[in-house]
Order: sequence, then structure tokens, then C-alpha cells
Amino acid sequence: MDEKLLTQARDILGKAERVAVFSGAGLSAESGIATFRGQEPDALWSRFDPMQLASVEGFASDPATVIDWYNWRRGKLAQAQPNAAHRAMAGHPGLMHLTQNVDDLLERAGVPESNVLHLHGSIGKDRCHAACGIEEDISLEKPEPLRQCKGCGAYMRPAVVWFGETLPQYIWGQTQAVCIGVDCLLLVGTSASVYPAITLVDLARSQGCRVIVVNIEASKTKQTDIELIGPAGEILPRLLEGFSLKT
Ligand code: APR
Repeated sequence: MDEKLLTQARDILGKAERVAVFSGAGLSAESGIATFRGQEPDALWSRFDPMQLASVEGFASDPATVIDWYNWRRGKLAQAQPNAAHRAMAGHPGLMHLTQNVDDLLERAGVPESNVLHLHGSIGKDRCHAACGIEEDISLEKPEPLRQCKGCGAYMRPAVVWFGETLPQYIWGQTQAVCIGVDCLLLVGTSASVYPAITLVDLARSQGCRVIVVNIEASKTKQTDIELIGPAGEILPRLLEGFSLKT
């Protein structure tokens, strides 16, 4: 890691009044959870077709395969533990998290649930596909196979946002409010390639927010002030050491 850039990033953090974290799959990579588009050989979208496994059309054509695939991911998450990046951020309970991740590793590391806004939902829950309102926690160790909603008989499916679906409105409103209020945003482990989530960074920038990237590769968005290149589990403990950050 570039020590000079780390010092500059710490200076920005030291002057910040309110800090938030926008994270993606790279934050959980060191916990053994595959990313979607990373360079690693196990990146999900290099092995599976997102339109078949993470879209309404894919679920309509083969719901059992979609549920089996999510249950396979749930099994991986059941074996995973929060990594040093999750733990470093949990040490700052005032931080607000806008995460694209559907895992619960931030919460398991000790981040208050109220401080984690899951833009793309949670793999730890099922909901009615007909959106009748039924939502149930599931066991990551022993998830249910394809089943029907007790309320209306439609299929139950993971409570995540699929391609082509809209983000939960109440979450979207809360994340926008955070982005308008912060003066420093940490962009951790995301390819910054999926809309509308990534427009939150533009919104924060338009309010004068500084953006610090933590990633193993240079980011594609040019809207960043500093890019700390390296694993999040290595960088975040050093970046956050000694600060008492608040939102
Ligand atoms: N530390 C920091 N960054 C890492 C690490 C690591 N240890 N390992 C990988 N990365 C970076 C990769 O370089 C990449 O830029 O994490 C990023 C992961 O990008 P994606 O796999 O595209 O994940 P994400 O940005 O979260 O994708 C957004 O796309 O398919 C949808 O719903 C899915 O929420 C997901 C969304």
C-alpha cells in the first residue's frame, strides 16, 4: 500500500465530520465469499449466468435451479466469518453502511443492524415473489428448497434485488439522505458498475463529499479523491486506526 496516499486519506478522514461506507462484494472476499466480477477465478458472473440465476425471468423459467443456487451461496455464507475489514469498521459504531452485499458479515462483526442499509436485500431471508408481504428468516445452514408462500401460494424466493427489479424504496430514500449528509465516503470493494446503487456516489460527490477508494485494483469511476490499492482486510484497519468516526 502506498504510505503517502494512506497518510493523505487519514488526513481527509481526520477532517471529516460525517463518514459513511459504500461497499460491495470485495469487502467479503477475504471471508471466502466470491465476488461477482473480480479477477479471482471463482467470480460468480464468470461461472454462472446472472440472467438465469438473478433475474425475474430466470426465476420464472426455472425456479428450483435459482433456489438451489442461492442455497449453495447460503451454505458458503454459513461457513464464512467476518474478516479484518468488517471488524475494523465494527470498531466505529457511528459509521453508516450503504452496502450492495446481501450477506450479514457486517452485522456479525458487530455493526449495529440499524447502521447497515442493504441496497440489494438480504440472502438471510425469503420473501413472497408476489410481494404479498410475507417475509421469513431462513437458516443459512439448512435453507428450504423451492416452496410456496403460506399467505398466497406464490413461490417464496430470496429477499434480494434481482436484475430488472427496483430497490426497496424505503432503503433508497434512507441511502440518499445519508449521501446528502456525509462529507467523506469510503468506497470499499466495489466495481462501481451497477445502477442505480452507484449513483449514490455521484450524489455524495455533488454535495462536496470526498471519496476514498479501497480496492485491490484501480477503480473505473474517476470521481474519487484517493485510491488505496490493496485488500480491504489490510487497508481498513490501518486507515481507521485511532479515529472516532461518526455519521
Ligand atoms: N479488497 C478490496 N477489494 C476487493 C477485494 C479485496 N480483498 N477483492 C476483490 N475486490 C474488488 C474487485 O477488484 C472489484 O472491484 O471488489 C470489487 C467487486 O466487484 P463486483 O464483483 O462487481 O461486486 P459489486 O461491486 O458488489 O457488484 C455490485 O452487482 O451483480 C450485482 O447484486 C450484485 O450487489 C452486486 C452488484
